[in-house]
Amino acid sequence: MAQKLTVKDILARKAQGKKISVLTAYDTAMARMLDDSGIDILLVGDSLGMVVLGYDSTVPVTMEEMLHHARAVSRGTTRALVVGDMPFGSYQAGLTDAVANGVRFMKEAGCDAVKIEGGIEMCDVVRAFDRAGIPVMGHVGLTPQTVGRLGGFKVQGTDIDSARKMIDDVRALADAGVFAVVVECVPGDLGRIVTAEVPVPIIGIGAGPDCDGQVLVVNDMLGLFDRFTPSFVKKYADLGPVIRQAAARYRDEVEEGAFPAAEQTFPSPMDYSSLLKRG
Ligand code: KIV
Repeated sequence: MAQKLTVKDILARKAQGKKISVLTAYDTAMARMLDDSGIDILLVGDSLGMVVLGYDSTVPVTMEEMLHHARAVSRGTTRALVVGDMPFGSYQAGLTDAVANGVRFMKEAGCDAVKIEGGIEMCDVVRAFDRAGIPVMGHVGLTPQTVGRLGGFKVQGTDIDSARKMIDDVRALADAGVFAVVVECVPGDLGRIVTAEVPVPIIGIGAGPDCDGQVLVVNDMLGLFDRFTPSFVKKYADLGPVIRQAAARYRDEVEEGAFPAAEQTFPSPMDYSSLLKRG
């Protein structure tokens, strides 16, 4: 069995110059396949709300929903680091509340770390997690939980003040103790500069090729979410049409009586004819 990756292993990758692969996962079956494929980090993202639970945004996702899915991912993972995404409202109301919720991801869901969104304003939460022994990943740039404040889903850091603030945010998060930072939806040049600025790994999503690692939402890269696809997503498979075709073929065969055939039917171990009502 492959050895479990640790936060230390992920941190060391930056100095080793070995890129870090991250995908989201929400259930045991997918976690097993991604873990077998050698993905380094499985992020139980609150994107769960949009790609699995059918919400319009990540805002309504609850702690209970996140823990339920994080437990399922942990059960399917042996090697990858499992990171639980703290949902909106679970770390903003005070440090005691934030730490208590972070602890639940570790104790009840078997996560190895948690992720929170925000920059300098979240450093006290990062320090509180650090004191409590909860490894934490940051997330700056396009932060979906507060997308309204950012003016919608659009590229971030496109003027000099916001680009400078992003560098300050990432530096502050690194000083406060995060082991990695997700940087979402920024021009590639800014992704490269931010990556060079800090000793902790930068995991890009729509942040160009020079980050220390990359993350994608698994349903996007497998073609399983068709409400919209951000332009930075590469589809490595298009499973949506494959599933639709398979379901339609099944429906046809059920309607025609072609399924189940003899191969899918248990043979009789005895003569049942005495059970037939005789007229
Ligand atoms: O919730 C999520 O899936 C995320 C990734 C997009 C980084 O935060």
